[in-house]
Amino acid sequence: PLPKKKSAPQPFDTCKGCSEVVNKALKRYSQTWKWQEENYKKFRSQLSSNCHGFDKAIITQANTPVGSKLAYDGDKKRTLQVTPEIFTTFIKENPFLNKKLDTCAVVGNGGILTNSSCGKMIDSAQFVIRCNLPPLQNGYEKHVGVKTDLVTANPSILVEKYGALMGRRRPFAESLRIYGNSLLLLPAFSYGYNTPVSLRAAYTTEDFESPAQAVFFNPDYLRNLSIFWRSQGLRAARLSTGIIMASLALEACTNVYLYGFWPFSNHPHALQTLTNHYYDDRKPRTVFHAMPVEFDLLLRLHTEGVLRLHLGECR
Ligand code: CTP
Repeated sequence: PLPKKKSAPQPFDTCKGCSEVVNKALKRYSQTWKWQEENYKKFRSQLSSNCHGFDKAIITQANTPVGSKLAYDGDKKRTLQVTPEIFTTFIKENPFLNKKLDTCAVVGNGGILTNSSCGKMIDSAQFVIRCNLPPLQNGYEKHVGVKTDLVTANPSILVEKYGALMGRRRPFAESLRIYGNSLLLLPAFSYGYNTPVSLRAAYTTEDFESPAQAVFFNPDYLRNLSIFWRSQGLRAARLSTGIIMASLALEACTNVYLYGFWPFSNHPHALQTLTNHYYDDRKPRTVFHAMPVEFDLLLRLHTEGVLRLHLGECR
C-alpha cells in the first residue's frame, strides 16, 4: 500500500464549491445509514424507464442483430452498421438475465481506498464492479479486494499501456488474468477511434483464450444515461465511468455499495492529503467530468437510503 503522506492537511479548495460538498458529506455521513426500500424502488424505476440499462447497457447478439445501426454517443454524427464479423464479437445474451443480484460493490479508484482495509468487505459482495483496469496486487488486495465480476477499460489505457494492441498482445492478455472470468466492458462505440482498439481487445481475449469476456457498452444507453443525469442537475461533457457503473448497478442489484468515490484532495476524517487514485496520483480530466457534482448527487442517494457510500475505513 502507498504510505500515508505526512504533509499538513490542505484546505478543500481544489474546486469551486468543493468545501460545501465536503462539509455536507461529513454531516450526512455522520448520520446512521438505512436502506430505504421505497426510495430505492422509485429511483430504480426512474432509471430503468429512462435508460433501460438492465436490458440495453451491454450490446448483445439478442438486442443488436446484424444490420443494426449504432449511433455513437461521443462522435455525434458517426454511425456504424453491424456487420456479421462485428456481430460475432457480441456476447450472446444479457449477462444480468436470470441473475438475482443482491449485493453489488462498485469500486471507484479514489485515493480514499489507500490503507482503508476495505478489501474483505468489497470481496464479500455478490457482484464486484471495477473501473479502468485497476491494479489489485502488490499489497492493494487488503484495501481494495481482488474479486472482479465486471471491469471497465478505457481505450486510452489500451493505447498508452499496450501500444493500442497493434503489436504483441500477450502482455495485455496476461494483465487480464487478475480479473478472472469477469466481463471486460469497453466503450467501443462512443468515439470512432475507440472501435478498432476495442475490437482488437475482444479478439485478444478470444485468441489467448482469456477467461475474461469482452463486452461493449451500448451507445444508446450512455446517451440516455447522460440525459437522465443532466435532468438531475449534472452538466458535464461526459459522465465518469464511476457514475455510469453506479447507475447500472442500481438497475441490476438491490443493495449497491460504493467504495473509492471521493474526488477531493483530503481524507474526510483523518484529513491527510490523498492521491487521486489509490495506485497513483494522475489527476482527473476536469475538462470532461464534473466529479464533485457527481459525488454530490451520489451523496444525495446515500442520504435517501438508495445506495451506500463507504468513506471511512472498513474494520
Ligand atoms: N473516482 C472518485 N474519486 C477519485 C477518483 C476516482 O470518485 N479521487 C471515481 C470516479 O467516478 C471515476 C472512477 O472512480 O470515474 C474511476 O476512476 P478513474 O479510473 O480515475 O476514472 P477516470 O480516469 O477519471 O476516467 P473515466 O471516468 O473517464 O473512466
